[in-house]
Amino acid sequence: MNTGPARIEINEVGPRDGLQIEKALVATEDKIAFVDALSACGFARIEVTSFTSPKAIPALADAVDVMRGIRRREGVIYTALVPNVRGLERALEAGTDEMNLVMSCSETHNRANLRMTREQSFAELSQVLAAARRAGAPCNVSLSTAFGCPFDGDVPAATVLDLADRLVQAGAQGITLCDTTGMAYPTQVADLCEQAARRLPGAALTVHLHNTRGMALANAIAAWQTGITRFDAAAGGLGGCPYAPGASGNVNTEELVHMFACMGVQTGVALEPLMQIVRGLPELVQRSLPNALLQAGQRLALHQPPAWLAERFPDAA
Ligand code: COA
Ligand code: ZN
Repeated sequence: MNTGPARIEINEVGPRDGLQIEKALVATEDKIAFVDALSACGFARIEVTSFTSPKAIPALADAVDVMRGIRRREGVIYTALVPNVRGLERALEAGTDEMNLVMSCSETHNRANLRMTREQSFAELSQVLAAARRAGAPCNVSLSTAFGCPFDGDVPAATVLDLADRLVQAGAQGITLCDTTGMAYPTQVADLCEQAARRLPGAALTVHLHNTRGMALANAIAAWQTGITRFDAAAGGLGGCPYAPGASGNVNTEELVHMFACMGVQTGVALEPLMQIVRGLPELVQRSLPNALLQAGQRLALHQPPAWLAERFPDAA
């Protein structure tokens, strides 16, 4: 098997991508406690919230209070989603370390999600990038629907790469290739990641996967084999886009960490404290969250053999 980098970084996006679509109202202090608990796990970044219009994303209307309320841990970069200049102003005011700008690769998803054409979004994000540079705030741009759009279908790789290139020219330090609705498949992921690395040698590349069709972990391996070192993921597999029909959760952080740990790849994330957080998620979001890893335990969490074995095979002792 082709191996990838020995060390990767995980950006935990549950507090943003996860909580943005939950129906249950999560109290501001519970969001803060969630982020604070995640801070102890060893993530490179935590996407804390989004500074979007409260009409568009009512669940995260308390973004300023959450960002101001968290306890910052050294070594963790606290990021937030920002769709426009107004969002940047609020994010800066609240003390956000790094901005995660967003627009879509496909026209219809951009219009549905951001109420702008792609060109309007590009112009808006160019202004955000310029203003962020003046403020000294680093910016990444998340490109939604990079592997397919639920409205427009396949998105040509050239469309994604041209857009990414223009955004890097405009000042983005990083680009995230987002599989917003789980349309990506492994060979496609490998292909786009390779092309992006060639086309954007100076940009930090991240992949953002959803498990909508059960391919998220396979896609993560495909990306890793091309040399990708940065992955978005959500604890418990929370997550989804409110403007993407049928969207479901992000790749589970704990499954991603567990898989890479089995392969000897360092993620920096401590699995036990993370699993403890995942156990509490159903209560936080007021719904059940089936979880294979919680149910089965880690790969080498061994079980007592059945008691009758000792009688039947006395030599075993
Ligand atoms: N933060 C807070 N309020 C904002 C805002 C921001 N970043 N941007 C706009 N608003 C407010 C405006 O002040 C205005 O308020 P008012 O009605 O009280 O005057 C209202 O929202 C509408 O503003 P407008 O500029 O017309 O925005 P819009 O309705 O065209 O929406 C976006 C554009 C981008 C702000 C909105 O679609 C959005 O926030 N989308 C985010 C989608 C998202 O996060 N999706 C999931 C993640 S991919
Ligand atoms: Zn997402």
